[in-house]
Amino acid sequence: MNTQPLSNPFTLVLFGAGGDLAWRLVVPALFALFSKGHIPEHFQLLGVDRLDLDADGFCSHLAQIHGETPPEKWGNFCKHVDYLCGDFLEHDSYRRVSERLQSYEAELGERAERVFYLATPPSLFVPIALHLGEAGLAADGDARARLVVEKPLGRDLESFLEINASLTTHFTEEQIYRIDHFLGKETVQNILALRFANPLFEPVWNRSYIDHVAITVAESLGVENRAGYYETAGALRDMLQNHLMQLLCLVAMEPPAAFDANDIRNRKMDVMHALRPITPERVHEYAARGQYGAGWIAGQSVPGYRHETGVDPHSETETYAALKLHIDNWRWQDVPFYLRTGKRLPAKISEISIRFNPVPHRAFPVWADQETQPVRLTLQIQPDEAIRLRFMVKEPGMQLRLRPADLVFDYADGFQEESPSAYETLLYEVLVGDASLFMRADQVEAAWRLVQPVLDVWAATPPSDFPNYASGSWGPEAAETLTARDGRGWLTPAAARENGPG
Ligand code: BG6
Repeated sequence: MNTQPLSNPFTLVLFGAGGDLAWRLVVPALFALFSKGHIPEHFQLLGVDRLDLDADGFCSHLAQIHGETPPEKWGNFCKHVDYLCGDFLEHDSYRRVSERLQSYEAELGERAERVFYLATPPSLFVPIALHLGEAGLAADGDARARLVVEKPLGRDLESFLEINASLTTHFTEEQIYRIDHFLGKETVQNILALRFANPLFEPVWNRSYIDHVAITVAESLGVENRAGYYETAGALRDMLQNHLMQLLCLVAMEPPAAFDANDIRNRKMDVMHALRPITPERVHEYAARGQYGAGWIAGQSVPGYRHETGVDPHSETETYAALKLHIDNWRWQDVPFYLRTGKRLPAKISEISIRFNPVPHRAFPVWADQETQPVRLTLQIQPDEAIRLRFMVKEPGMQLRLRPADLVFDYADGFQEESPSAYETLLYEVLVGDASLFMRADQVEAAWRLVQPVLDVWAATPPSDFPNYASGSWGPEAAETLTARDGRGWLTPAAARENGPG
């Protein structure tokens, strides 16, 4: 949520530069910022990895990302690219990183902002952060480097606390940027704009008008080639503890007094504090899990999770997780928040659906009112980025008949400009030094604290019914029961769009 232009020279030291994350997301984001003229003239990318390459070799390794870009532009970008071959576990690599930084800065004649981006497997976060600190690279006089890490940060509360204690041995909280890439998505940032830049929604954004909120992050892909990681994670750790919790905070938080990193994150923390803990005895009432079996997605037959490459044929890892949460505060008391996410669901759709209460008195005759649907605001996060308000209208004709209709704001129609990618936005924010879109340690800790009883109970009671949903379906029956117990139901996103006239 930058408010300042980026002008200071910087060096981005990219650990894991030869890996998938660097190649697919981080370097393309930097290149996009460079191509669009968003970064200053003086910057340096220093890739660090074990591959035996020099700067030219590294540039050729990256070359596939520049696609249709004119070669001169890629050539110009490569003038800013350097590479250092080193082992992340050896102190000497950090001494050499330090020498490179000093030599760039000597040539520049001033100190550049230093950003250390750990695009490595999570098991290397701690050793790299400790080595950086020991090499004097976390703080150099008054100048403070920034450290960027990605989720997953731990696999439970205890491991998160341990990792965080190590990260903060040499780096302060202000220096650490914990990425949750959902926060970089345009439509996610737009939740705050919708709520706090318009006088219309906030007065009804509370328990007096809202019946419930449902957050769906559905993916049609399976585990792909990430079984090694996913088998140790599962949907609750991989998606719900972070991405969906962030969405929940943005929907539920109070307005910040100022648009600054700490104010926004304090308001999110207020939500985390108010979340009603799920006690172990009630996990079965408040949480549901599932694992996909074989099925059909977009007309193609796909295997079940247990038959995916690298997956244990008896795996108990959940590929679907749903939670019912309550926020015990003045605004949200008794309004359930239903969260669900899963792989191999019918489509890739993320959306937040806010369902309003019915009118207090129905004055229309029964025959006019047959098709009444609840008023609902849907924030479509991806792939069709839009805001949709469903409400009731009179159908044209001599008779009084009510029908649902939609007011839709579609990003693609509303704006010509292409949205930046989440990584472009987040990298820019790191370089500017604005942490609003990043997770603060207390938030991550609170999210682990909330899901810990669910993790514990699930680990202690292996699922007997896995696989319990077919690929291409909307998930297990247990998730339906979660809402049905309250007399509610999930609304499948596709149905939400089809039922109305537009
Ligand atoms: C990642 C998860 O954080 O988010 C993946 O590890 C998931 O399992 C991905 O597929 C989804 O992100 P997006 O941006 O494609 O919705």
